[in-house]
Order: sequence, then C-alpha cells, then structure tokens
Amino acid sequence: NRTYDIAVIPGDGIGKEVMPEGVRALEAAASRFGFSVRQQWHDFASCDYYARHGTMMPEDWKQRLGRPSALFFGAVGWPDTVPDHVSLWGSLLQFRREYDQYVNLRPVRLMEGVPCPLAGRKPGDIDFWVVRENTEGEYSSVGGRMFPGTAREIVLQETVMTRHGVDRILRFAFDLASKRPRKLLTSATKSNGIAITMPYWDERVEAISAEYPDVSHNKFHIDILTANFVLKPQIFDVVVGSNLFGDILSDLGPACAGTIGIAPSGNINPEGDHPSLFEPVHGSAPDIAGQNVANPIGQVWSAAMMLDHLGEADAAAAIMSAIETVLKEPGLRTRDLGGRASTTDCGKAIADAIRTA
Ligand code: NAD
Ligand code: IPM
Ligand code: MN
Repeated sequence: NRTYDIAVIPGDGIGKEVMPEGVRALEAAASRFGFSVRQQWHDFASCDYYARHGTMMPEDWKQRLGRPSALFFGAVGWPDTVPDHVSLWGSLLQFRREYDQYVNLRPVRLMEGVPCPLAGRKPGDIDFWVVRENTEGEYSSVGGRMFPGTAREIVLQETVMTRHGVDRILRFAFDLASKRPRKLLTSATKSNGIAITMPYWDERVEAISAEYPDVSHNKFHIDILTANFVLKPQIFDVVVGSNLFGDILSDLGPACAGTIGIAPSGNINPEGDHPSLFEPVHGSAPDIAGQNVANPIGQVWSAAMMLDHLGEADAAAAIMSAIETVLKEPGLRTRDLGGRASTTDCGKAIADAIRTA
C-alpha cells in the first residue's frame, strides 16, 4: 500500500480557504487510486503564528516537519500586521533555499470555460511552461544600507548567479523542452542593459544548448518578452528565466490565460535530496480573504502536480480532467472567472468529479 506523508501548511488569508479544497481533491484521488495520504497540518509559516510567537516559524521547523514526501503549501502574507519581506523571508523563501528547491515549475494553459482577456485566443493557443530559477539571482541577501537616514544614503543589493545555479536550471529547462512535441526553449534575458549577470546567463544558455541538439532555443529581452506574452502567446513552449524574471512571467502568463486563481506551481528539488513544495502561484489575497470566493483551482492543480511528482500520474491526470469538467460548468465558476460559485462549491464539485472519473 502506497502511503505519502504530506506536510500541510495553509498559511494566511485565502491560503486557509483554498487548502481544504486542495486536500479534498487529494483525498478523493487517494481513495479512487488506492494510495493513502497521511496529513500533518502545521500552523507555522503564517502571520497568525508570528502574532503569537514573534517569528514566522519555530527554530526547529525542520525537525517538526520531519522527512515528508512533499510539502503542500497555501499562501503566506498579511501586510497589515507583518511586513511582506519579513513574512516571506521567514517562511516560503526559507523552504525554497533550505530544501534546495531550485526549480520553480509553473504551467500556463488556457482552459476551456475560462474567459481569456486576449482577443481571439482559444484553448490550445496558450500552453507553455515557465521554468523559474528559485534559489539565487535577484533574490539575494547580499547588500546593505549605508549612511541610513542621511542625504548620502546608499542602498545596494547584488544579483548572484553561480555557474552551478545557472547551469542546473538551464539543464532542467532544456530537458523539459526535449520532452515536449515542439522542443523549443525561450530564454528571458536583459543582456543589453544588465551587462554583467545577464550576458553570463546568455553565455550559459549557449553552452548548455550544445548538450541538447534536438532542442531549438531563442531568447528575448524581458521587456519585449512580456509584450510577446500578450501579443503572441502561441509562440512559447518552455520559457526559462532568472528568479525575478520568472516571478513576473509566472503571474503575467496565467493572467493572459484568464486568471491567476487557477495557476499552480512546484518548487522542486529534482534530485530528491530534499522534499519539494507545491503551492498556487497566487498569494494570500487579503482583499477577498474570509469571503469564501477565492478560486481553489490553483491549490487543486498544485495537488495534481504534487501527485505527478510522487509518481501517481493517473491520479494527477484524474484531478486535471476533474478541473476541466468543472471549468466547463458556468454554475461552478468562481468570481474571478465571472461566476458566482463559492470556494467550497467549486472544490466539492472537483472532488466529486475525481471520484466518478
Ligand atoms: P495576490 O496573489 O495575493 O492577489 C493579487 C490579486 O489576485 C488580488 O486582487 C486577489 O484577490 C486576486 N487573487 C489571488 N488569488 C486568487 C484566487 N485564488 N481567486 C480569486 N482571486 C485571486 O497578490 P498580492 O496582492 O500582491 O499579495 C498579497 C499577499 O500575498 C502579500 O502579503 C504577498 O507578499 C503575498 N504573496 C504570497 C505568495 C505566496 O505565498 N506564494 C505569492 C504572492 C504573494
Ligand atoms: C511567488 C511569490 C513570492 C516570490 C513572494 C511572495 C516572495 O510572488 O511565489 O511567486 O516572489 O517568489
Ligand atoms: Mn510571484
């Protein structure tokens, strides 16, 4: 009997509302496909925890998590009470670094039933992956503030690119592209203006491409790349970018495909030396939190990515087809999709569809 130990961390805001729906889908898939999920829920990595303890996570968080098969994460952040850089560096960004989850894998797909803001696009026209470097780059703690509060104040933050870090994310992206029918890798750069790190990135793309003769590749500077996401989304297959560029592209892509509410992600340690973490792309959405209106599909799709990662490909596919079924039903769409269904209505309908698939 296959059993998975899942660390469940809902976090803040709508994280606490969409997580039960993600878990509902997980349980439905488990009973349908004959494996079991042992859930360990944690209240840390949240701003509520911070209010009680003055820190986002206990010092021994790693011991408390043990060695789970994967982490299932909601969203963190409540800027009214904890500054965002404190809550995020004290939680999610620590998981990514401490567990060396150097790949942030984010699919972008226009689904049937989702209103697309780009004129004339239909399902199939938008179908690509954003591969985001997830442990270095622009998200660095190298820097500081000098002469604070004076007229000479200087604030500096370095971008860090290591050969090891750049090469491994590029290999992952080329490898993914080599398994796709179109076998095309697009690199996000800005080597015209950011004239040290970005030319290095381009140089490593060229070097690594030699290992993948069957994959073609191109590059766009990030400014025109964002324009092309809107104007020609059909030209993309796998898009690889640095930490910050990947972050921006992975909100823009799903927005072009209708809503960020359905977008999932995997924060992956491909070697399996550490557990991987699965979470929606979106944040805690304080503007709609507590109303039971958030779209739970980003969380549910993340459950599918997690099961795929754990080797339960059939269960993952069943969750995906349940999502497709529910999206086709106008009465089951949440507010971000122009519908009136609640978070729980949508989540329960997906779980039902998984059980009867
Ligand atoms: P956000 O993603 O939380 O919200 C942006 C907009 O999208 C809001 O209008 C929100 O209502 C809407 N939205 C997001 N998810 C939705 C869903 N599932 N269904 C319907 N609408 C949805 O981004 P933000 O406002 O920039 O950030 C809010 C907080 O979340 C901040 O504290 C931020 O740091 C944090 N954040 C956390 C994560 C994470 O945990 N991975 C990601 C992004 C932002
Ligand atoms: C994401 C989020 C995080 C990031 C924030 C909350 C630190 O936007 O997962 O995309 O920038 O990585
Ligand atoms: Mn983001």
